[in-house]
Amino acid sequence: MSRLDNTFGQQQVTSQQREQKIRRVFKLVASRYDLMNDFMSFGTHRIWKRVFVQHVDAKSTDIIIDLAGGTGDIARQLKQKGAYVVVADPSMEMMTEGQKSHTEKLLNIAATGEQLPFASASIEKLTISFGIRNMTSISDALAEIFRVLKPGGQFYCLEFSKVMMPLRPFYNLYNRYIIPRLGAMVARQPEAYQYLIESIERFPDQKEMKQLIEQAGFSQVHYRNLFFGIACIHMATKPAESDSKQQNV
Ligand SMILES: C[S@@+](CC[C@H](N)C(=O)[O-])C[C@H]1O[C@@H](n2cnc3c(N)ncnc32)[C@H](O)[C@@H]1O
Repeated sequence: MSRLDNTFGQQQVTSQQREQKIRRVFKLVASRYDLMNDFMSFGTHRIWKRVFVQHVDAKSTDIIIDLAGGTGDIARQLKQKGAYVVVADPSMEMMTEGQKSHTEKLLNIAATGEQLPFASASIEKLTISFGIRNMTSISDALAEIFRVLKPGGQFYCLEFSKVMMPLRPFYNLYNRYIIPRLGAMVARQPEAYQYLIESIERFPDQKEMKQLIEQAGFSQVHYRNLFFGIACIHMATKPAESDSKQQNV
């Protein structure tokens, strides 16, 4: 079990309650989500996302699932690279907001990371940006991602992570005191942004996340820190069938 299981903010809740509360958070913030991202990160989330997409080796023959794709920032950039992209997210509000504010339309599917509506070994690549933190169980979501990817398929994850010293105390102060106030002023949802901060603080650090990905069965797991570890890109490959047979010998 990952550290995020059955917690919502400071509360101990059941998995079902956590799922419902997270669903409510994104329903409440959807209309101001993109604006708030720009405020909170001083626009740097756009750079992180651009770097993330640069790492994705997207081919025109690829089907890519952008899980927890929300308003579609990542999916739109992947589409520009020529891939066939599907956004999978449980929040209709987030996906609708993305469709309203962009002329480039996306294929959206209502789905959760814990139960993906795709056949096993059917997808070339799966991306997830600032989404895996919201899963009821990171391990269950990773197992599901592993299931739907084809052997040789690739997984890319962009998420907040553990900031390096000496930046860490300043970053923590900013998160604890400024973000909830910005959330109140800009998004008018202080509690939703309180959840955001707590979920970042509880999220596994770079090495723990790497271990979770390896435990799900992935190989070639590596990561790249962005902005001193404020965000981190994890990349991994589902072993080709021949590789996994060799491992089992
Ligand atoms: C912080 S937003 C990220 C959106 C987008 N990927 C981005 O980078 O801007 C997190 C997204 O995760 C989605 N989400 C929450 N719980 C989820 C779950 N169990 N499975 C898949 N997506 C989930 C939310 O609806 C929301 O759209």
